[in-house]
Amino acid sequence: MDSRPIGMFDSGFGGLTVARALIDLAPHEEFVYVGDTGRYPYGPRDLGEVRAFALQIARWLIDDVDVKLVVVACNTASAAALDTLRALLPVPVVGVIDPGVRAVAKATRNRRVGVVGTVGTIRSGAYQRAMGALPVPIELVAASCPGFVEFVERGETRSDQVTVLAERLLAPVRDAGVDTLLLGCTHYPFLARTIADVMGRDVVLVSSADETAFEVRAILGDTEPGRLGVARGADKPGSLQVYSSGDVEWFRTVGSRLFGEELGEVQRLVWPDPPPVSDATGSPDRDGRPGAASG
Ligand code: DGL
Repeated sequence: MDSRPIGMFDSGFGGLTVARALIDLAPHEEFVYVGDTGRYPYGPRDLGEVRAFALQIARWLIDDVDVKLVVVACNTASAAALDTLRALLPVPVVGVIDPGVRAVAKATRNRRVGVVGTVGTIRSGAYQRAMGALPVPIELVAASCPGFVEFVERGETRSDQVTVLAERLLAPVRDAGVDTLLLGCTHYPFLARTIADVMGRDVVLVSSADETAFEVRAILGDTEPGRLGVARGADKPGSLQVYSSGDVEWFRTVGSRLFGEELGEVQRLVWPDPPPVSDATGSPDRDGRPGAASG
């Protein structure tokens, strides 16, 4: 079995929803999480810029941390960069869009589903394409929810303001009569109570976290030769190391409220300025490597 860690990243706290599912399914693995809070939100950015960020983080995870697998725990980065990362990186790369589509296809009964995500994700058409590739057609109603991520990053998951925003942004999806709503942004499960109140009891909320964790586990394999292997054994507890490119104290405070005390210490990552957008083309230019500083 390959004892190297699993790397994962998001623009901020959102990927912690995926980390939770992964830790539950593979509790003896070591996880290294990057929350790129210094450059959040990704949703309103140009997809090329998000691709460059994703490539920079993934390369750091591979070159400096020596991860065996990368989980893109962010829909916007998955929409922008998954194909590029898979083409350029020497380790398996798992995104959250296909797992989310599989999860929602299993959950719907009336085959009319909604998906909500960032402006970047919805505008990319990634969900529309993934849903269109299913063997049995599903009607999809998509809506972007600008502002949701910012509420989560502020640690504000229940308030009148977030409810007012949710009422306005979710109205078209609710009124379309969907029976299932895919939370196509990894931050949104933190707003699940507000979203559920607005959508009503009959609408099932689905996140991609569990299905993504199943995919990671399937790639690691169990005992099959040639597979990376799942870490196991009571004598080897798993671990989670967290890095943030923003305010590490804030990440620790809000992150542990959202995720739980196991979040532990948060270490600081410092990216070079300006970010290497040209790197998104896959050029071998390596100026884009950050320095890690503790604290
Ligand atoms: N969690 C990211 C996603 O799944 C949020 C993107 C953002 O920073 O806007 O899309």
